[in-house]
Order: sequence, then C-alpha cells, then structure tokens
Amino acid sequence: MKGVVCICGKGGVGKTTISALLSRLVLEQKGIRGLAVDADPGGGLSMALSMPVKRTVNDLRKAVIDAVKTHSSDKLNVAASIDFQLLESLSEHSNLAFLAVGRPEEEGCYCQVNSFLRESIQILAGQFDFTVIDAEAGVEQVNRRVIEEIDLLLLVSDQSAKGITVAETIEQVAATTIRGHKTGLLLNRLRSAAEAEYIRRNTALPILGWLPEDETIREFDFSGESFLKLPTESPTLQAAGKIASALLS
Ligand SMILES: Nc1ncnc2c1ncn2[C@@H]1O[C@H](COP(=O)(O)OP(=O)(O)OP(=O)(O)O)[C@@H](O)[C@H]1O
Ligand SMILES: [Mg+2]
Repeated sequence: MKGVVCICGKGGVGKTTISALLSRLVLEQKGIRGLAVDADPGGGLSMALSMPVKRTVNDLRKAVIDAVKTHSSDKLNVAASIDFQLLESLSEHSNLAFLAVGRPEEEGCYCQVNSFLRESIQILAGQFDFTVIDAEAGVEQVNRRVIEEIDLLLLVSDQSAKGITVAETIEQVAATTIRGHKTGLLLNRLRSAAEAEYIRRNTALPILGWLPEDETIREFDFSGESFLKLPTESPTLQAAGKIASALLS
C-alpha cells in the first residue's frame, strides 16, 4: 500500500473502522511505514487502534502560538521546529504511527486547527509510505480544503440511500477542492452481494468493493479491543486488503 487515502462519508457508516482496518494492514507490510491520522475532532481512531494520543495537532497549535507570543523575535525558529515537533507528537506501534487532530476548546478555533491539520498532513505524509486519514463525518473538511492533496478519496457508505447521497455530495464538492485524486465508494455492513448490485445500478460513483456486516468487528468494538489485533484470517480484513492493494499498490 502506497499513497495518501482519505476516508469520508456520512456519520456512523464505518469510517473509523475502515481506517483501523487499513492501519492494521500496514502492520503486515514490514517494508512500509504507515501513518494513521484521526482528523475527526470527536476522536475514536485512537481507541480503535489502542494507540495513545501523545500530543494533538490542537495542542501543537496552542504551543506554537504561545512560543510566538513569548519569543516574538524568534518566529523563524518556531516555524522551523514545527516539523520536529510534529514527529515528536506521534505515537508509534511497530511500523505504524498515529496522530490525532484533537478538539479546540473554543468554537472560533476550528478553522485554525483545520488549517494547522492541513499543513501537518502535508509535512508528515511525505515522510511515510502510506497515510490514512479518518475524516470528520460529512462534507465540511473537504469543503474547507482541509483534505487537499490526496491520492484516493475513499467514500464509505452503508446500504442506506442517505449514506450514498452524502457520499455523492462529498464527491461533487471534492471535484472542485481536491487536486488529482481518484475516488471510489466502499460499501460497508452489507448483507449480500445483491445489495451491492442494487447500489451499483443506482449511483454513478465507482464502487471499489464491499465489506460484510461482521460479528467480529462488532465484538471488538463492544469490548474496546484494538483492531490492530484482528486476526489475519478475518474475512473483512482480507476483503479490505484486496481492495486496498488493488488501489494503492
Ligand atoms: N463491517 C462492520 N460490521 C459490523 N459492525 C460494523 C462494521 N463496520 C462498522 N461497524 C460498527 O458501526 C459502528 C460505527 O462505526 P464507525 O465508528 O467506524 O463509524 P464512523 O463512520 O467512524 O462514525 P462517526 O461518523 O461517528 O465517526 C460501530 O459500532 C462499528 O462497530
Ligand atoms: Mg469515526
């Protein structure tokens, strides 16, 4: 797996689960270095991976503002140290690193955090072979160009018409805000191939594949177990792996 993939879609369709599955697949590819980014201020990927949040992008933003305020003559040094501080903010598990955006305390800071996140992803993604970004639900981060330079926009939906409509809307917005990316729809929690076929006939989005409703995923989430521990034989993990390697080789 190579490149930068951003996972978007309606709330609750499985974005974090699929981000965690792709992160899990990184562990099997010892030759590559992977980065998982939780771009959702609500969090969730940290728990799905059982990887601690060392320092969030929002923490770093605040530290930089404080540093500029207290050493106003030293702005260049502060800017130069951001790359290093970003790397220091990552938590790591084997060949997988993790960064979370965090949540600003004040409403007015969301824009600043988002632009800091955009810069952070640009700085870090170049240093990893594979980056997976678990985006906030809906269209806002794509609309605000937080997610700007990616290789694959991986839209996720369950079988619901609402989920597909949100995916289509995100794609329409992405067509004007994201440069040179591929787009595909990954269907999640389907109960049969017939459901996938029905959706294929009713959307113009290219369907990359589908993942089944999976009792193991449910159990892992129920107990808060790390998805990094999913067994290699997990059919959902294997299905995700086939789709990812076809797209991101
Ligand atoms: N293939 C699957 N089989 C069974 N359960 C699943 C599957 N995929 C996701 N789920 C369950 O669906 C729920 C929502 O999943 P998840 O948190 O990944 O969605 P999300 O899109 O990240 O949500 P949010 O928009 O709130 O961030 C979780 O309880 C998860 O266990
Ligand atoms: Mg989520």
